[in-house]
Amino acid sequence: MSRICEGRVVVVTGAGRGLGRAHALAFAAAGAKVVVNDLGVDLDGTRAVGGAAGETAADNPAQQVADEIRAAGGEAIVHGGDIATSAGAASLVAAALETYGRLDTLVNNAGFLRDRMLVNLDEDDWDAVVRVHLKGHFLPLKHAAAHWRAEAKAGRTPVARVVNTSSGAGLLGSLGQANYSAAKAGIIALTLVAAAELGRYGVQVNAIAPAARTRMTERTFAESMAAPDAGFDAMAPENVSPWAVWLGSAASEGVTGRVFEAEGGRITVMEGWRAGPTVDKGARWTPEGAGEVALKLLGEAGVPGAVYGA
Ligand SMILES: NC(=O)c1ccc[n+]([C@@H]2O[C@H](COP(=O)([O-])OP(=O)(O)OC[C@H]3O[C@@H](n4cnc5c(N)ncnc54)[C@H](O)[C@@H]3O)[C@@H](O)[C@H]2O)c1
Repeated sequence: MSRICEGRVVVVTGAGRGLGRAHALAFAAAGAKVVVNDLGVDLDGTRAVGGAAGETAADNPAQQVADEIRAAGGEAIVHGGDIATSAGAASLVAAALETYGRLDTLVNNAGFLRDRMLVNLDEDDWDAVVRVHLKGHFLPLKHAAAHWRAEAKAGRTPVARVVNTSSGAGLLGSLGQANYSAAKAGIIALTLVAAAELGRYGVQVNAIAPAARTRMTERTFAESMAAPDAGFDAMAPENVSPWAVWLGSAASEGVTGRVFEAEGGRITVMEGWRAGPTVDKGARWTPEGAGEVALKLLGEAGVPGAVYGA
């Protein structure tokens, strides 16, 4: 039986560690040729691999993931560029096209954290985190989409897939993560727009909000992320990857512009903003009148989910 991603060419950003690594290995096991991207930075985005004495490109964790894929009989190449720059994103797409002659799936996953309470959040920490997540999704998506649009216009409409990575922080907010929550919420809006704009070119765009034990979570949420002594290790990153693989395969035909929470053995379709109780006076309100009706509407509305950590 043919595997679910047989022959597809898949780019995974931030695939040297954690969830991206698990996705890259899972796509390869599903028959895909994988472009394993990672800049090899520390958890706060500083110090890219290759910067320290004695380090070389071979120290990039992406190299180890590509070696693992090849050792298992799969095909992979390494891309060590920064996906949040236009040059890095363009060369990432070019690497897939030059090596394998095609691009079928883009998994946007790379990122890092700089957690601080809002009043202590420096402008630099805001910029760096919004840049790597939000711009780091936009740029690879833009360059991949330009290729797919050209293919469609040449009469070769692709079966293209994009899997973006949001977070519960982007869905509900998370204390101490204003920068990260804002970026991850932006990724959901980007997903909705991209799905609507790119469908005509054969491109489906969805997002996952994962939860798993990686260096991002293993200390902050040590207890809930710990592996059990026996039984199902729900927080292993490998549990999220089957959803990324399915969304990134031709089998997900017709599914686009959707957001899924994925954790352990659980998958949840997230249902986003929708109009709740409403009133239209057909004329301008006074502030006092607006306040009165707002309180009445809020009394009829559902209660929003709690911000993480609140
Ligand atoms: N672990 C979780 O529970 C969880 C929850 C929600 C969302 N996420 C998201 O999942 C994704 C993966 O996170 P993870 O937990 O596996 O973290 P991780 O730190 O293990 O992996 C992220 C990888 O991205 C790479 N990277 C960072 N900046 C880069 C850049 N500019 N260009 C290329 N590579 C870069 C890092 O070097 C690292 O290897 C992130 O987008 C994260 O926000 C994770």
